[in-house]
Amino acid sequence: MTRAIPNVGAADGAPDGAPDGAPDGVAAGVAAGAASEPHRPTARRVRVAALLGHLAPASAAAVVVDVDDDERVHDAERAVVGGAVAVRRREFAAGRRAARAALAQLGVVVDGPLLPDADRVPRWPEGVVGSLSHGAGLAAAVVARSDRWRGVGVDVEADRPLPDEVIGLVFSESERQRLLATTSLAPAVVGKRLFAIKESVYKAVFPTTRVPFEFADVDVEVVGDAAFVAHLGPRTGSPYAVLRGAFSCVDGVVVAVTAF
Ligand SMILES: CC(C)(COP(=O)(O)OP(=O)(O)OC[C@H]1O[C@@H](n2cnc3c(N)ncnc32)[C@H](O)[C@@H]1OP(=O)(O)O)[C@@H](O)C(=O)NCCC(=O)NCCS
Repeated sequence: MTRAIPNVGAADGAPDGAPDGAPDGVAAGVAAGAASEPHRPTARRVRVAALLGHLAPASAAAVVVDVDDDERVHDAERAVVGGAVAVRRREFAAGRRAARAALAQLGVVVDGPLLPDADRVPRWPEGVVGSLSHGAGLAAAVVARSDRWRGVGVDVEADRPLPDEVIGLVFSESERQRLLATTSLAPAVVGKRLFAIKESVYKAVFPTTRVPFEFADVDVEVVGDAAFVAHLGPRTGSPYAVLRGAFSCVDGVVVAVTAF
């Protein structure tokens, strides 16, 4: 049964910037020299982390950290964002903290750098698949054993309406009809959740296929309150025509996870 994207969580409650707390990510392998205050979780981060833990596969490890002013990264990672603006450096560092913490939960300790490849896809350790996202002042990582999952994708976004000019790009006509028919939410609000779902699909699939694709190449059905089925068109290059995932909102943050 197909339903509209539910009204879970507020659409306008989250700040876009980093909140006032600090993450407690694993600091293994980071460069020395930055502040060494113990990282304290924010309540919002704890709630988003709990949500991500529910949405991710049971055998995966999922971690959410706050994006704060901690820019410490491994020496080799610094070259990736050395010329970037501060917000990008902080998001990148937070993403790497989340990744290391998630890998540690999986029993994989990474002392060296977690570098991206030429397509920006993180090079995960042998035997691991994973995905990173930053948004709404948070960074999230989901990692899993590659003998259990071929790919995972995560997206975290502020649960705020999409800009008008983007709405038309994200929805297909059939999605407009299906997803908007039974909700009182504005198309821009539903569209942001659909955006997060499709970004999670993209990040799950692309590392395997290396074929870029557009929002229009994925058609999403929402099933029940928090599950979705994504139908992937031929231009995605995906050997799988149908992928499944889960999404929900808490504290003004939308979280989506795809795993196959
Ligand atoms: C790759 C993409 C999905 C990343 O999303 P984003 O909104 O920029 O940013 P997020 O914070 O959610 O995710 C960024 C992380 O995704 C990962 N990533 C980047 N490119 C990726 C790719 N091609 N495949 C998988 N993961 C990728 C990286 O880990 C990156 O963080 P890092 O650079 O700090 O390591 C997006 O930038 C993009 O390239 N989209 C083009 C294609 C598209 O949107 N198609 C429609 C979807 S159906």
